[in-house]
Amino acid sequence: MRAHAPGSSGIRCPAIEGGLPRFAGPKNRAIGEWRGEDFRAPVSDAARMPLFLTGVRDLRCSLEIGMEWMILMSGGMDLMNDKYRIIGPLYDIVARIYSAGRIDKCKTAMHDHIRPDDYVLFAGVGQGTDAVAAAERGARVTVVDLSDSMLDIFAGRISGRHFLHPVETVHTDILKYEEYGKFDMVYANFFLNVFTRPMVLAVIEHLAKLAKPGGYVVIGDFALPSGGAVARAFQSLYWYIADIFFVFAARNAFHPVYDYQTMLKGHGFQIEKVRCFRFLFDDRFCSILARKG
Ligand SMILES: C[S@@+](CC[C@H](N)C(=O)[O-])C[C@H]1O[C@@H](n2cnc3c(N)ncnc32)[C@H](O)[C@@H]1O
Repeated sequence: MRAHAPGSSGIRCPAIEGGLPRFAGPKNRAIGEWRGEDFRAPVSDAARMPLFLTGVRDLRCSLEIGMEWMILMSGGMDLMNDKYRIIGPLYDIVARIYSAGRIDKCKTAMHDHIRPDDYVLFAGVGQGTDAVAAAERGARVTVVDLSDSMLDIFAGRISGRHFLHPVETVHTDILKYEEYGKFDMVYANFFLNVFTRPMVLAVIEHLAKLAKPGGYVVIGDFALPSGGAVARAFQSLYWYIADIFFVFAARNAFHPVYDYQTMLKGHGFQIEKVRCFRFLFDDRFCSILARKG
C-alpha cells in the first residue's frame, strides 16, 4: 500500500525516492515495505498539518537520508528491521514521565470488561504491562509484536509468573496474524499512531476480523483535540512533541492525532464507552471500547 499517489503534492523525499541505493535481497524485503508505508505522510495528512510543520520537510528528508547512510555503512540491518531496538527499553519510562502516569491508566481503562477465560489479543504489545494485567484477570492472552527487542522485554516481564492461562507470544506483523473471529477483546494501545492513515484503516479492518462477532476492539491513544482554538492548539502541540520524537526514534509516521471513533464507526463498530484521562488542564488520552456489529 502506498502512502500517496505519484505526482501528488504530499510530503516527499526526492533523494530517497530517486537516488539512494536500494536494499536488495529477500532478507531485506521488509525494509522496502516499511519504507513504502512509513516514510511519507499521505497527502490528506500533509494537508492537515500546521504550515510550520510541513515547512520542516527538507530537514526531515536530510535526517532520513543521513540515517539511511548511517545504517548502510554500519551494516546495521537489525536496526532497520527492529525499529524499537534502541528506544524500546526506554519506551514505558518515557511514556510514564511524559504523561505523569496517565498513559498507563489509559492502557488498562477497559480491563473491567475482561472476564476470566476470555480470549484477549494485544496488537503491538510493546513492553506489555496491559497484557500482564489482563493475564492476571484470568484471560487467555495472546500478544503480537514485530519487534524482537520489545518481545524480549515482555518475556522478561512474564518470566517466572504463573497465570490461569499461559500467555501466547507471536512475533509477526499484525497484518500477517490471521486467527480470525477468535478474540473477545482486541487491544490496540498506542499502536495505531505509529502508522500512516491508510495503514491505520487497513489495520483497524484487520483487527475487526480478529474479533469475534459481538466482540470488542479497544483503542487507547492520544485524545482528539477538542474545545476552543487555544485548547486544540495545545493538544496538537502535546501530540506533535511525542510524534516528532518517535518519527526519529522509531521511524513512526508523521501525522495529526487520528479520529479513531470515526474510523471505528466507518468499519461498522458501535462505540460503547470512552474513558479519557486529563493532564495539563485537558483530556490527553482516551480509551475507546467499540463493539463489533
Ligand atoms: C508505540 S509502541 C506501543 C507499545 C504498547 N502497545 C504500549 O502501549 O506501550 C508500538 C508497538 O507496535 C509494534 N509494531 C509496530 N508495527 C507493528 C506491526 N506491523 N505489527 C506488529 N507490531 C508492530 C512495535 O514494535 C511497538 O512495540
